[in-house]
Amino acid sequence: MNLESISRRDFVVFGGAASLALIAGCTSDSPGGAGSADGSASDTVDPSLRADVVATYRAEPLELDLAGRIVRTAGYSAMVPGDALRATAGDLVEVTVVNALDEATSIHWHGLAIFNSMDGVPGLTQGDIEPDASFTYRFVVPDAGTYWFHPHHGLQLDRGLMAPLIVEDPAEPLAADVEYTLTLDDWLDGTGTTPDAEFAALRHMGGMSMDDMGAMTMASSPLLGGDAGDVQYPYHLINGHPIDDPLTLLPAPRAGQRVRLRIINAGADTAYRFAIGGHRMTVTHTDGFPIEPVVADAILIGMGERYDVTIDIQSGAWPIVALAEGKDLTAGAIIRTADVITSALPELGRPLAEHSGVWLRYSDLRATEAASLELPASSEIREVPLRLTGGMMRYDWGIDGRSYGEHEPIEVAQGEWIRLAIRNDSKMWHPVHLHGHTPQLSSQRFGVRKDTVNMLPGQSVDLIFQADNPGSWMLHCHNAYHLESGMATVVTYTA
Ligand code: C2O
Ligand code: CU
Repeated sequence: MNLESISRRDFVVFGGAASLALIAGCTSDSPGGAGSADGSASDTVDPSLRADVVATYRAEPLELDLAGRIVRTAGYSAMVPGDALRATAGDLVEVTVVNALDEATSIHWHGLAIFNSMDGVPGLTQGDIEPDASFTYRFVVPDAGTYWFHPHHGLQLDRGLMAPLIVEDPAEPLAADVEYTLTLDDWLDGTGTTPDAEFAALRHMGGMSMDDMGAMTMASSPLLGGDAGDVQYPYHLINGHPIDDPLTLLPAPRAGQRVRLRIINAGADTAYRFAIGGHRMTVTHTDGFPIEPVVADAILIGMGERYDVTIDIQSGAWPIVALAEGKDLTAGAIIRTADVITSALPELGRPLAEHSGVWLRYSDLRATEAASLELPASSEIREVPLRLTGGMMRYDWGIDGRSYGEHEPIEVAQGEWIRLAIRNDSKMWHPVHLHGHTPQLSSQRFGVRKDTVNMLPGQSVDLIFQADNPGSWMLHCHNAYHLESGMATVVTYTA
């Protein structure tokens, strides 16, 4: 076998903790070996293999303290966000989800190219995990990077059900003295409303006048090409903390140390413009995959996107501020070096100078050589055109004018190269997410790899990937309310 012909399956076999025996029930490299005729992959990891990482997450009701205001919500094992799951690339991970909610749930491992049967989409890749039931996910994590997980069930991710998933690189090339994970989240659950109530209100807006709608939300941002979001949130959190009770990152870094931040937008309807007072950031990764380092003052992060950055921290107590883009509120945290003993807190409630500095654009991003795809001639890449459709008035977000359930699956053949040519025909921006693959954005050499891509109104993007991971994979908008209204389709492998 030469290097070019190493498929993902082979990688999983060789990259895993064990041996060739890792893959059970898979005898051929053909897609037929991976699934049944309906395209639902049934591959699983050999149950007799011992996992490298074992964890249990209980999806359960809980109370969250928002600067003294207690809200009832749901989360994983008494924490919002859930405790980070950490593994090393190649590890076999075994996570049991215990459902202590009063409704069904699931977990989707956002950004990981794992077996389809472990992707966590009820009705597509598995059944519901019913109340009082549990389900064990077993998969080999293929790639290092910053990922996260959340249910693929209704609007549960707009409650407290989400957590970071950090995959270490066994040969980490990035030198950092200390690292922190920051989970950004828009919050309303339990504050006199719920995600389900908000969704019902959005759905009933059809026929309302613009004036009525203005009372609900008229979030707007030039960076997002107009309408910034559909839902007004009273709180924006970093690692579960509002700005009135901010998190100070611990353990404190020492002045002069190189700090790595892994930033995850776990929000449902909010893009964040992220910056750190007094520092420019060196951006090293997006959506888990490495890029040629690029310096920026601010980063716009859509729902589902991740960025890793480093800073060489100067002595001081510095504000970390994520502007809820177009929504006039902020999320914030503090990073204070160990030599500083002041109790004076930096201001977190307003934009920093850095927010109006140089902000990172997709055109600034280039994959590292190791992360870039070897594209074939463009004639060998099949174009699949798609349009993002729908609007606020009818709340009928969809793909090609259809909502999930009436969608036309995108059929691909194993090994085929695909270019999803997506055009945003709606009047609002959408973060588009593909499961099970990390496509390259644009057909340029060293095009950045991203699993979640912000698309502004009227914009077109190309997402290029090789169909190398059989199964049925969702392609959807990561605005939770748009997804719930049906803005989703499925990429499915034919035999
Ligand atoms: Cu975070 Cu279907 O994804
Ligand atoms: Cu959307």
